[in-house]
Amino acid sequence: MFKQKRLRAASLCAATILAAGLAMPAYAEDTVKIGLVTPLTGPFTSTGEEMLAGIKLYMAQHGDTVAGKKLQLIVKDDGGVPDVSKRLAQELVINDHVSIIQGGGLTPLALAVAPIATQAKVPEIVETAATSSITEASPYITRTSEALPQTVAPFGEWLLKDGVKKVVTIVSDYGPGYDAEKWLKEPYEKAGGQVLASLRVPLANPDFAPFLQRAADAKPDAIFIFVPAGVGSIFMKQFIERGLDKQGIKLVGTGDVVDDDILNSMGDVALGVVTAQHYSAAHDSALNRQFVADFEKANNGRRPNFVAVAGYDGMALIYKALEKTGGDANGTKLIDAMKGMAWESPRGPISIDPATRDIIQNDYIRRVEKVNGQLYNVEIDTIPNVKDPAKAGK
Ligand code: PHB
Repeated sequence: MFKQKRLRAASLCAATILAAGLAMPAYAEDTVKIGLVTPLTGPFTSTGEEMLAGIKLYMAQHGDTVAGKKLQLIVKDDGGVPDVSKRLAQELVINDHVSIIQGGGLTPLALAVAPIATQAKVPEIVETAATSSITEASPYITRTSEALPQTVAPFGEWLLKDGVKKVVTIVSDYGPGYDAEKWLKEPYEKAGGQVLASLRVPLANPDFAPFLQRAADAKPDAIFIFVPAGVGSIFMKQFIERGLDKQGIKLVGTGDVVDDDILNSMGDVALGVVTAQHYSAAHDSALNRQFVADFEKANNGRRPNFVAVAGYDGMALIYKALEKTGGDANGTKLIDAMKGMAWESPRGPISIDPATRDIIQNDYIRRVEKVNGQLYNVEIDTIPNVKDPAKAGK
């Protein structure tokens, strides 16, 4: 009872401080502070590192002054723990008076920050998390990564055309996994494909072996996999160890499993894996060639992946919105300025859907191939300007 009262008092207190924080005229100052809350320790460290490196690259290329305002980036490590993301976001708003929060390295982290964005009227830019519903968690959320249904829905039909008629899906057991499972199955089965089994694997410390065995026993043409960035190597190792490649079972999935950051270290076993996603380091454009070259130079040869490009584009969105508001960092003005923004990203043309605040982008079908001795996701087909189908008609 006492504990409950204390808890209620504590949350009331936090709400009061937050409300007081709102009164701070952050936009009247000459510096615009931007908070980044992302995993820089723990199992999803690579996500935070790629995101931060993408953000820093954009700032290095474009300078740290926009519309007469100096930008200050404040970086916080949430270790991949939602309660920590929330506390850090709260501190950034109350103590540091940030005008924008970016991050969202995983769905639960992005969702934990959403109430802070709403209460403080501070835009939250999501740069990895991909569950469709995230943008509906706050009117101040926008996204430069992807909505998984947008990536997955067109892939089923493509697989059928490629002769893949029966699949088993294996997904990480949380939000984006459920979206991947559902949005692969429904359009794929409507078009005549068959999902023989839908398997879910724990997100933390995954052991794929028993799931791979069950998948193989169902004798599919392919296994479709979704795991978040950073987990692909473990999956790939176990796929090969069980000899599924030798049983003629193809591996397909979302691009997260063969993300550019880890692809080369997987070795030739990854050759031929076909995935759908919005970014490949091999994307053939002048802007992307420059992006990859500058990123590798600034990061000891490390290759940018789709998280790096989302961080880079998150920063691009901030610059463009500040230019549009003439440097006014009022949160409501900024999120309004972001709606409908369109520009060229290293991934290709992108825009922010003014109705949903979610990203509209090309979905690429890619196959792992060797190019100049290195493994790349080579784009073999493009589905242009895809909106999140889960939000259609809402
Ligand atoms: C997510 O948690 O929504 C998420 C994280 C990493 C990914 C994709 C989705 O690569």
